Amino acid sequence: MRIVHLIAAARPNFMKIAPLYHAFSRQKWARPVIVHTGQHYDRNMFADFFRDLGLPDPHVSLGLGSGTHAEQTGGVMIAYEKVLFESRPDLVIVVGDVNSTVACTLAAVKLGIRTAHLEAGLRSFDRTMPEEINRVVTDAIADHLWTPSRDGDTNLLREGVDPEKIRMVGNIMIDSLVMMTPAIEAEDARWRFGLEGSDYGVVTLHRPSNVDDKDTLATLCQALRRIADRTPLIFPVHPRTRKQLDAFGLADHLARHKNIILTEPLGYKAFMNLVFGARFAVTDSGGLQEETTYLGIPCVTLRPNTERPVTVDQGTNVLGTPDTLEADLEKAMAKKGRTVPEMWDGRTADRVVELVHGF
Ligand code: UD1
Repeated sequence: MRIVHLIAAARPNFMKIAPLYHAFSRQKWARPVIVHTGQHYDRNMFADFFRDLGLPDPHVSLGLGSGTHAEQTGGVMIAYEKVLFESRPDLVIVVGDVNSTVACTLAAVKLGIRTAHLEAGLRSFDRTMPEEINRVVTDAIADHLWTPSRDGDTNLLREGVDPEKIRMVGNIMIDSLVMMTPAIEAEDARWRFGLEGSDYGVVTLHRPSNVDDKDTLATLCQALRRIADRTPLIFPVHPRTRKQLDAFGLADHLARHKNIILTEPLGYKAFMNLVFGARFAVTDSGGLQEETTYLGIPCVTLRPNTERPVTVDQGTNVLGTPDTLEADLEKAMAKKGRTVPEMWDGRTADRVVELVHGF
């Protein structure tokens, strides 16, 4: 029996470990163990996702919460190393680019435990982004680098990585989307928010570069209000963003607009039910860039760069800025000729299981 640790820390990780958990659970030779580091802990940032995705409670909870980058990274390393001393897994799989991704990789690799990074090779080439540091460090030390797209392979080869370590396996987020589509369609979120059958846009924002500076966030709020004059917007607000909107006195300014619905963060099924019916998305999330490309929904990503260039080259994504958001949105709506990138097909977890079986 091979013990496989699946590391889950923050919201976007949960959609990435769910297909892996289900695929490994179906194997007689494997036992998947879910390790939750605790980075996201609110009910609507964590437990609702586990329930929606059919995941059991985490087998191991490290109990680390919010903190500075060093506190999160160091805390997870110390706590996870203790777990590894007690029971040594055959493989650790880390996903994405959050602080716990790099923390668990460091802890495991130094103990000589085989470690794989799923979603390897993505690069924004922007070292001011904490996630870029996490990606670069994780990929430099993990044993297996499983990429979602060709650009990932190219980036890793350019960094001098041994080609033997690299395998393109496809996009794991799309596995969750495919697996959950019937349940997403059965949800009633569009109806509950009074949006069923109407044109509306979905907004998500949480990057420090967009929400931590008062002027930037105020400019964004003004642009959203102008867009909402024409098209209703639904905006599930991330806890970081909620804190900043309140601190800068901007929450009321948005909430007072009759066409803007501000809600708490939503579970996976309810949120994706809204995305499925949306005319467009405005976001700074990594996952939503991919999901909208897969679904063919125009998307503006409020960032100067993206580590997911296929969503721009092949997909429906356009990069935008707070100052030019309305024009960026028009550009996204006018974009033609989308294709779904190679291996974004709902079979990534199966490819991973096959690789691990062959180890
Ligand atoms: C983290 C990830 C980011 C990912 C995002 C998805 C890193 C460096 N960042 O950013 O890559 O896109 O998750 O959401 O790992 N908070 C709560 N409840 C929670 C979680 C957080 O109230 O359940 C509040 C805390 O006050 C915390 C703040 O939100 O300080 C930010 O959370 P944190 O985990 O530090 O970073 P995110 O912005 O969520």
